[in-house]
Amino acid sequence: MAYYLRLMGPEDIAQVSAIDREAFPTMWPPPDFKHELKNRLAHYIVAGEEGRTIEETEVKAISERVFSGLVSQVQRLFGHEPLAGAEVPVFRREYVVGFAGFWFMAGEVHLINIAVREECRHHGIGELLLISVIDQATELKARLITLEVRVSNDAALNLYDKFGFTRTGLRRAYYTDNREDAVLMSLENISSASFRRRLQQLKEAHFDRWGYLYKKLPAKSGVSAR
Ligand SMILES: CC(C)(COP(=O)(O)OP(=O)(O)OC[C@H]1O[C@@H](n2cnc3c(N)ncnc32)[C@H](O)[C@@H]1OP(=O)(O)O)[C@@H](O)C(=O)NCCC(=O)NCCS
Repeated sequence: MAYYLRLMGPEDIAQVSAIDREAFPTMWPPPDFKHELKNRLAHYIVAGEEGRTIEETEVKAISERVFSGLVSQVQRLFGHEPLAGAEVPVFRREYVVGFAGFWFMAGEVHLINIAVREECRHHGIGELLLISVIDQATELKARLITLEVRVSNDAALNLYDKFGFTRTGLRRAYYTDNREDAVLMSLENISSASFRRRLQQLKEAHFDRWGYLYKKLPAKSGVSAR
């Protein structure tokens, strides 16, 4: 299996929302990805599986278009049946296996989220996404990357440890669903020569282990890196 990265677009919202709900079912309200994509500060990356697509019926979008606008008024006027229940086109989308999102402000990157579909975990995708976040942070000339993570989230803690994040504090009862504490972590000096060397080693080790090539993405320019 090979995976690739690209910047997230509106066509990914349904899949990214599903991945988010699977990973964080108790977090409420769920993130508004439509809003996030319009947010100047927000940067989102998705990982896709090479050669795999998924069907996505656009029932909701179509019913919104049909029933909210002028078209529906005209249909009613002329006594046409609304399109509910009619055949709807089926779109094939690239299969998204994970995503990462961060905010860049005041010279800092704050990692908002990173998640991989459960069925696709342990294949180096989380690492791939984190490498891309770090590269984008470097390109944006961020001074550091910060994040919060649940104290019980061993998988994420190990991932961040592996990339050199250090623990900078604890926020008590930070998560509203179960009042779990958050570990605050940060990765500093991301532009230093020593960190760049370390990151290069991690990229090479990732390639040796998983066999698919990491390609650097430009930060939020809309250009695909495939
Ligand atoms: C955290 C997460 C993104 C990792 O994704 P992944 O694709 O499975 O991770 P990778 O295969 O790239 O693993 C990279 C490293 O993460 C750590 N890791 C991943 N899964 C782990 C697990 N189950 N237990 C312990 N460490 C784990 C390891 O350090 C691993 O490196 P290694 O294989 O050399 O030991 C994934 O578990 C996930 O989506 N979790 C739910 C969402 C979440 O908690 N996100 C973090 C919010 S702060």
